[in-house]
Amino acid sequence: MSGLALVTGGAGFIGSHLVEGLLAAGMRVRVLDDFSTGREENLAAAAGRVEVVRGDCCRAEEAQAAVSGAELVFHEAALPSVQRSVEDPFLAQRRNLDATLVMLDAARRAGVRRFIYAGSSSVYGDSAELPRHEGLCPEPLSPYAAQKLAAEHYCRVFAGCYGLHTVVLRYFNVYGPRQDPSSPYSGVISLFIAALLDGRAPFIFGDGRQTRDFVFVGDVVAANLLAATRDLPRGSIVNVASGRRSTVLELFDTVQRAVGGGALGIEPLFAAARPGDVRDSLADLTRARDLLGFQPTVSLGEGVRHTVVGFLNATQQKEKLP
Ligand code: UD1
Repeated sequence: MSGLALVTGGAGFIGSHLVEGLLAAGMRVRVLDDFSTGREENLAAAAGRVEVVRGDCCRAEEAQAAVSGAELVFHEAALPSVQRSVEDPFLAQRRNLDATLVMLDAARRAGVRRFIYAGSSSVYGDSAELPRHEGLCPEPLSPYAAQKLAAEHYCRVFAGCYGLHTVVLRYFNVYGPRQDPSSPYSGVISLFIAALLDGRAPFIFGDGRQTRDFVFVGDVVAANLLAATRDLPRGSIVNVASGRRSTVLELFDTVQRAVGGGALGIEPLFAAARPGDVRDSLADLTRARDLLGFQPTVSLGEGVRHTVVGFLNATQQKEKLP
């Protein structure tokens, strides 16, 4: 691969891994991030090799300047939390939907070759069929899911009306090193690891028998690189997941074993199920295989172990700071 790629949200969890993947694949990379949740240290491994623009995807001039000269746009910037969106649907709407519309418009004006959008499995809601395939009628249950779905529609519309080559990757539950555990809205794996490393009991919302398809961030990066290079119809929508599901209770056991030591004696605490929470989630990966040639490679146990090591390394780095 060659040329310039713009990664919005490139200082965030998924974005920063994608930046490293693109650099390794031979691309030049620019990041557009407002650093509201992104962090400089996430880009430490790419320092000196990436152009970082501090800016807001919702501001048309900033978006246009950032996209200039880019061949590919990976739009990862978002407020990625179902619960945040339930509490503040307007802020979530700005970050999840308005920002996508502005970036799409900037991309088509700049003549970008391909626009790859970080979609979400939340659009499926509790639709009856499992595993979930892209042909199912979406049934969003939260403002977040509604925004992610509306943004997908815009991707399709920009492909149809303006000829912009868009691809939507519907991410299932992504996890890995650098996922920020510092907010109660963070992804469950990061919260479980942070609590257990700290000797605290994590919370399980509901009975813990809800299921999720957890996908390691390295596999998500691989799917993005395929989406950028494969010959596929514009406006495509493709699931990105592991194709396996675990209950939150099973996940707790997996994390507990990976952390080991004192964590082995900790029992989780139970609290009420969260509003807007989907019960079961599992991806059908047929289209991902057929269109992208995508094959997830990291098992949950292996991915959780990598993530625990990543968290321990990050803590050691912080302790070294003056
Ligand atoms: C959802 C979407 C996902 C999206 C993500 C953005 C679905 C199926 N998935 O993830 O595509 O990218 O939002 O945030 O809709 N939980 C606990 N204890 C905790 C935290 C969470 O038990 O401390 C439970 C939750 O209630 C939920 C599960 O763990 O049942 C996963 O939660 P979370 O990691 O927040 O992700 P989703 O909301 O599933």
